[in-house]
Amino acid sequence: MLKVGLVGAGGIGGVHAQAMAAIRGARLVGVADARVEAAHKLGEQFGVSHYSSLEELVQAENPDIIDICLPTDLHQEFVVRAAELGKHVFCEKPMARSPEEAQQMVEACRQAGVKLMIGHVLRFSPEYRTAKQLVDEGRLGRVGTVRLIREGTAPGWSSWFGDKRRSGGVLLDLAIHDMDWLRWTFGEAERVYAKMASVEQGLPGDHGFVSIRMKSGVIAHVTGSWAQADGFRTFLEIAGTGGVATFDSANIHSIRTTLRGEGHPQHSAESPLSSNAYANELQHFIDCVEAGTEPLVNGEDAAKSLQLALAAIRSAESGQVVTFV
Ligand SMILES: NC(=O)c1ccc[n+]([C@@H]2O[C@H](COP(=O)([O-])OP(=O)(O)OC[C@H]3O[C@@H](n4cnc5c(N)ncnc54)[C@H](O)[C@@H]3O)[C@@H](O)[C@H]2O)c1
Repeated sequence: MLKVGLVGAGGIGGVHAQAMAAIRGARLVGVADARVEAAHKLGEQFGVSHYSSLEELVQAENPDIIDICLPTDLHQEFVVRAAELGKHVFCEKPMARSPEEAQQMVEACRQAGVKLMIGHVLRFSPEYRTAKQLVDEGRLGRVGTVRLIREGTAPGWSSWFGDKRRSGGVLLDLAIHDMDWLRWTFGEAERVYAKMASVEQGLPGDHGFVSIRMKSGVIAHVTGSWAQADGFRTFLEIAGTGGVATFDSANIHSIRTTLRGEGHPQHSAESPLSSNAYANELQHFIDCVEAGTEPLVNGEDAAKSLQLALAAIRSAESGQVVTFV
């Protein structure tokens, strides 16, 4: 049974602690947070001890894995510290604030001989996995266009989200989910052009529109928004020579496909995967640590999604197309 120490008892830390209760082969052994009362509350909820720092947690519990659920600008520092303590590391997305930080994280884990996975959770969501499978199996034919939307109210529970130097704003914090899924499904991007409602804007009205040409020729458009007042919604549409697939979290929790030659739409069967994408991603990492295999989203891979999101931000700021070589 592997032991997991959680660092960061905020919004997503609570989701991870809950998800860990459902996974096999590992258990939560302690929670650390600079806000000791937050660590205490979460630790008490899940019957484990609480600590005020990563080092205290490691000293007392000797976990095999550190799960980092801290503000984005702290990811690099804490991943490096955990790796230097000889711990495998799961770290929330976005990986970091810059490609240099991402490179340092990869290098520290390589040198320590520990595994690193970044929490690009759409790769573990039943709907987004099914959508990729439709593409991979060729059921939509040759794909031409993809539309992706992720929108909701601003994450008002912590002030650091509103500081673009810390969170990167809506494109880095939210739209990166869809950009990572795009890369996973269609390969690398060739060029990107983005427009924000206002490049200076932080919370609550951050709203961005990103147009991406993939090297495969697929044209994608990603909307990320913290400007919607009526709850969280995600949308996906893939159109190919063989038909169209759509998923809208506001309507139904299955993918709807309309294939050429088959008159009416079909709803994909339930995925055998658990619907808790957070439990699925953590289970995958536990299985990789146990088996000594490479995680589906390793540091090098997640660093490319980071580069795509940063390119979108650069484009929005400069008004220019950013081209990848
Ligand atoms: N995968 C997803 O769907 C998803 C969803 C939400 C957030 N996230 C990501 O997870 C990360 C955390 O987001 P959140 O919403 O949980 O933020 P949050 O502000 O709710 O929680 C962060 C926690 O870190 C603690 N903290 C800050 N500095 C610390 C330090 N030096 N040492 C120890 N603890 C410290 C804070 O006290 C707080 O409890 C971000 O990178 C965010 O982008 C991912």
